[in-house]
Amino acid sequence: MIEVKEKRPYVLQEGDRFQNEICLEFDAISCNESFARVAVAAFIAPLNPTMEEVSDVKTAVSEAVTNAIIHGYENTYGYGKHGQSSPVCCPIHEGKVYLRCRLSQGILYVEIEDKGVGIDNLSRAMEPLFTTRPELERSGMGFAFMEAFMDDLEVESQPGRGTIVKMKKKLGSGGWLSCEEEG
Ligand SMILES: Nc1ncnc2c1ncn2[C@@H]1O[C@H](COP(=O)(O)OP(=O)(O)OP(=O)(O)O)[C@@H](O)[C@H]1O
Ligand SMILES: [Mg+2]
Repeated sequence: MIEVKEKRPYVLQEGDRFQNEICLEFDAISCNESFARVAVAAFIAPLNPTMEEVSDVKTAVSEAVTNAIIHGYENTYGYGKHGQSSPVCCPIHEGKVYLRCRLSQGILYVEIEDKGVGIDNLSRAMEPLFTTRPELERSGMGFAFMEAFMDDLEVESQPGRGTIVKMKKKLGSGGWLSCEEEG
């Protein structure tokens, strides 16, 4: 679990040694998906990532946050079938998505947590093309994309309690190779 430390004696701002942590909490509604992916893109900017790295991270964050919103909290408003018009207003299930990020030695660590319904059969859920929401035209490729676009993916879930997606990606075209990986 990434814990944002209350005190840090100084900021390390030189190249691969740059360190930073953020922790965000937002409502589980569709418009916050774009907020989350842009926030993480801005967070990694000091490392001068390539366009491809930024795009990979945005896609992975987007998939994990969407899952938290539509599966974790079952807030499907804004995620209707293609071409379907949404109602002007509809009830939402209360819930927050927790996004924690850490940059350390050129590596991005991201965690996306929800306290929603959780996943009964995690290995099945992570299989490509498996979805429990075909009526929303979900394709069952979210976890496969997270795995493909990031260097490491771990998922912890407890039915009735929620889900945490943990991802890691090395950034900045290989400068990290000379550094020892942390935590
Ligand atoms: N945070 C979550 N809470 C509860 N269930 C989840 C969560 N994330 C994923 N799942 C379950 O895992 C399944 C697979 O997720 P995945 O992201 O791979 O596909 P999808 O969301 O169904 O489709 P797509 O991401 O392609 O639109 C989901 O259909 C859902 O049943
Ligand atoms: Mg998904």
